[in-house]
Amino acid sequence: MTVHPFPAPMLQVDKLSLEYADAHRVVRATHRVSFDVHEADRFVLLGPSGCGKSTLLKAVAGFIAPREGQIRLDGQAVAGPGPDRGVVFQEFDQLAPWKTVRQNVVFGLRSARKLGAAQARERADEVLDQVGLLAFADAYPHTLSGGMKQRVAIARALAMQPRILLMDEPFAALDALTRQRMQAQLLALWEQVRFTLLFVTHSIEEALVVGSRVLLLSPHPGQVRAELNAHAFDADSTGSAAFQQTSQRIHQLLFEHQQVDAPIRRRAGQPGAAP
Ligand SMILES: Nc1ncnc2c1ncn2[C@@H]1O[C@H](COP(=O)(O)OP(=O)(O)OP(=O)(O)O)[C@@H](O)[C@H]1O
Ligand SMILES: [Mg+2]
Repeated sequence: MTVHPFPAPMLQVDKLSLEYADAHRVVRATHRVSFDVHEADRFVLLGPSGCGKSTLLKAVAGFIAPREGQIRLDGQAVAGPGPDRGVVFQEFDQLAPWKTVRQNVVFGLRSARKLGAAQARERADEVLDQVGLLAFADAYPHTLSGGMKQRVAIARALAMQPRILLMDEPFAALDALTRQRMQAQLLALWEQVRFTLLFVTHSIEEALVVGSRVLLLSPHPGQVRAELNAHAFDADSTGSAAFQQTSQRIHQLLFEHQQVDAPIRRRAGQPGAAP
């Protein structure tokens, strides 16, 4: 038997280029992006607006097919969405408004994981308890704050026991204090459950607090600029000198030598297309 010193990465993104195309033009969102995510990593994609973070996350979720390159989860090429990937978006309206908090969590469990009613309810209450919302299980989403709705969305995704949790700026629309509290709560939940996280943000501070590893992407089209270790930082380290130094270094890496490649190219056969 061969013994491998390091386990293979859970998620392997290899030279991934992603594009949006319509009849007239092609927009390249990411260019040959590669990274590996290991079990229990809190892996953050950080970059300026428009660098392709959401597009990358959607590709990992299986909503967008690669133009070139590959995404592998546990060695299998990702070919579409699946319950092995739980997604939490930025919007507060991702819950069904006509279902209670518990019903929102139960719904996916019954359809995708084929759990019986009692089992699904038990599992739902377990995760609602983990995110501190068991007392609100019978409430409807419109009676909750934005932060509470996001915690329900996190609970719903975690209930499915996905291999990896994908989060696209889940706290960006919250006020600064709630956002900090949500970051701390996410870390506390991670300490408890040790899920694997792929988290998108354009906030340097959020990346360092939430992430254990941070991938820096250059402006549009997104290319890998650097990868940093952020294990040392948590919600209490934002005031430290080391935190400030790392933030500054990231700022320089992100915004120095911005490349001016034209991200849009004509489709073959269109006026102005390359020969
Ligand atoms: N549906 C779409 N059709 C065409 N182009 C798109 C579409 N969605 C995104 N793009 C383009 O792809 C590029 C990457 O967009 P994306 O939304 O992935 O960026 P982002 O890094 O998530 O930005 P932000 O921080 O603002 O959310 C942008 O240039 C954007 O204009
Ligand atoms: Mg985005």
